[in-house]
Amino acid sequence: MISAFPVYPIRRNKAMRFGHFDDARREYVIDTPRTPLPWINYLGSEDFFSLVSNTGGGYSFYRDARLRRLTRYRYNNSPLDMDGHRIYINDGGTIWNPGWQPAKTELDRYTCRHGLGYTILQGEKNGIAAAQELFVPRGDACEIDRLTLENKTAAPRTLDVFSYVEFCLWDAMDDSSNFQRNFSTGEVEVVESAIYHKTEYRERRDHYAVFWANAPVTSFDTSRDAFCGVYGGPVAPEAVKAGHCSNSIAHGWAPVGAHHFHLTLAPGEKKSIIFGLGYIENPVREKFSAPGIINKARAEAMMARYATDAQVDAARRALADYWQELLSGWQLTSGEEKLDRMVSLWNQYQCMVTFNMSRSASYYESGIGRGMGFRDSCQDLLGFVHMIPSRARERILDIAATQFEDGSAYHQYQPLTKKGNSDVGSGFNDDPLWLIACTAAYLRETGDWSILDEPVAFDNDVTRAQPLMEHLRRSFRYTHTHLGPHGLPLIGRADWNDCLNLNCFSEHPGESFQITGPSEGPVAESVFIAGMFVKYGREYAELCDHLHLTEEAASARTAIDAVEQATLTAGWDGAWFRRAYDAFGAPVGSRECDEGQIFIEPQGICVMAGIGRETGQAEAALKSVEERLDTPYGVVLLQPAYTTYRLNLGEISSYPPGYKENAGIFCHNNPWISCAETVLGHGDRAFAVYKKTCPAYIEDISEIHRTEPYVYSQMVAGRDAPTFGEAKNSWLTGTAAWTFVNVSQYILGIQPTLDGLRVDPCIPHTLAGYTVTRRYRGAVYHIRVENPHAVQKGVQSVTVNGAPIAGTLLPLAKAGESVEVSVILG
Ligand code: BGC
Ligand code: NOJ
Repeated sequence: MISAFPVYPIRRNKAMRFGHFDDARREYVIDTPRTPLPWINYLGSEDFFSLVSNTGGGYSFYRDARLRRLTRYRYNNSPLDMDGHRIYINDGGTIWNPGWQPAKTELDRYTCRHGLGYTILQGEKNGIAAAQELFVPRGDACEIDRLTLENKTAAPRTLDVFSYVEFCLWDAMDDSSNFQRNFSTGEVEVVESAIYHKTEYRERRDHYAVFWANAPVTSFDTSRDAFCGVYGGPVAPEAVKAGHCSNSIAHGWAPVGAHHFHLTLAPGEKKSIIFGLGYIENPVREKFSAPGIINKARAEAMMARYATDAQVDAARRALADYWQELLSGWQLTSGEEKLDRMVSLWNQYQCMVTFNMSRSASYYESGIGRGMGFRDSCQDLLGFVHMIPSRARERILDIAATQFEDGSAYHQYQPLTKKGNSDVGSGFNDDPLWLIACTAAYLRETGDWSILDEPVAFDNDVTRAQPLMEHLRRSFRYTHTHLGPHGLPLIGRADWNDCLNLNCFSEHPGESFQITGPSEGPVAESVFIAGMFVKYGREYAELCDHLHLTEEAASARTAIDAVEQATLTAGWDGAWFRRAYDAFGAPVGSRECDEGQIFIEPQGICVMAGIGRETGQAEAALKSVEERLDTPYGVVLLQPAYTTYRLNLGEISSYPPGYKENAGIFCHNNPWISCAETVLGHGDRAFAVYKKTCPAYIEDISEIHRTEPYVYSQMVAGRDAPTFGEAKNSWLTGTAAWTFVNVSQYILGIQPTLDGLRVDPCIPHTLAGYTVTRRYRGAVYHIRVENPHAVQKGVQSVTVNGAPIAGTLLPLAKAGESVEVSVILG
């Protein structure tokens, strides 16, 4: 018998915010530097990226956070968040930073505005206002930091102003470990206000960094020892205290870039200084022009592009236009302020960031541990494909090229080389099916069937290239040919849940974290992959239909039906779907288990796949989720939490109860439950689940939640955890894509299909109506949905440009057209 699950009280009930949404400016405005954790933003959307926190911490890299790191960042440091994009002001001995850190001098005023690809830190002290405006301009590989100083007093003021960055010696992994070498490789060169960081250029490298200012400096430093002092540090660097740098040239050790300006501001006067940090790559033939001498032409051209305020203003405007255009493709007006700002802005913004970063670089992902995840990037694409389909197309082809000929895949790859990571290897048996998921999403969005004909390498070997469709076929076949004793898919090393390592003991006794063996052999099976196979297998069969591969479609459906049957029988526990069978053939996620009786993942994916809809099992499964897994902060991953480590389950049981995959609220699969509820027509419940983890809806509990209130986090501590409600791992999570898919397609019901756009909402009955502007295949649809009878689901009528249509599939408009759609629910 299952004991009753107690309802836990909310740990603290203090409503506390640390800022607010400025919807008109599309910013989150933070009004104290003492946020519960650093609240960050991402600058850059193409090749050059910077992370910047609300106090100016962070770092920059070019394309690959591990292999092309421009500036150093020390994770898990104490004090926290010391390294960054720094500006120091020495005002007659009072040393402060516009973003408060690292000096932490109390400011008279402070605000941080995180916007779309830019951040503005504003500090004021003793009548001097300083604004540090950071962004990565479109089309250039650099970060611009414009400092604007204003003397708000009636007396002239003389200040010493410093910039400061600490260079990373490019490979961030090597940089943080190989000191015996790296203390001797550093090289710099200074030409007027440009500080060149050229470590490793003399070897086989072809790139360097430049940190410049747009005005002549009073002094500079390039040696950390000189700037900070050997026993000093970023809190109060010796040079800043002294009021001048020493024009040091770094030879090895730690090269840095620091500019110093001694300046006077008349009463009321404003002055700006533009700093830039650029990445330059020279063609190979220029590499060895002369030992140690770099060709600076590209750097000079870059500096000339941002030499004046007018140029910087224009670059800022271009960035704003870019985002305006991108977001204009999906806009919501519902009268529900929080919903509107998440859908129209922040959720899509986070989707762009996860698309760019995968799981590589955040304040929780070090940039050296993981590159691009196979399953992660496939899922990120689901929430991004409508924004820039061409980039999604390119990404699909990159991901597919890391697949093996048997359909399995490297679990991760490096963004710079695009090669699979052999340290991590393959064997996660859900991976292949995610490739079908993202390709089908791309086709539904674009109708660009040519992608299926693109030749794509296997394991990056172009001599073995096959059309993308063949890759999908092998994905499908991989699952189909790797079924276990119950007719359910073999799990391999793990499935979506990385920590469910059911075969771990059999291959490497005692080493549950590093399983490198083949995925076949051990018999553990996954009901989750079964659900995926039914859902994405059917999508694959639809592609076959479209390509007139009639026999293949039919045999695929036969295979899918068999797995569906196995799921409804062997995969069913009586009131919910089981999670798996372990390597002994014992069920996981069953009432037969002492702990871990019910898991969230199979309930979400199976119901989304439509499994058990006719038999009542789907209803029962979601009811069990609500009864057993729901909490005020979201739906936990499993119950009861594992209290002891279990060799037959692996990493999942290594976490203390309530954290991460061991009964944490893993935000990524909360939207699956919400989607599943809409499949059954439960709009009220779907929206209730949506709101629980939605950042804008929980802004008031920022003190409990701790991470940024404008983006999703990977996990929130579950009710078994002493810190129930506390989030971790913000930004880089599949939650972003899945919540956007959930809210845009399943709840608001604007659904791209292979044949065009369908409108079929499932909303809370209290929502009276809304309008959506949706760019789709080059046309713009203005869709007005009205809910006069307060229903949760059901379309009564649809008119397109004033004329009624039958059904809910909108006729395809031509590119460039504007379509007026009116939908009445009832
Ligand atoms: C984490 C997972 C993550 C995995 C990646 C595990 O330790 O718990 O959430 O997916 O590492 O390697
Ligand atoms: C985070 C990983 O990035 C993702 O791939 C995985 O599905 C979840 N953790 C769950 O383990």
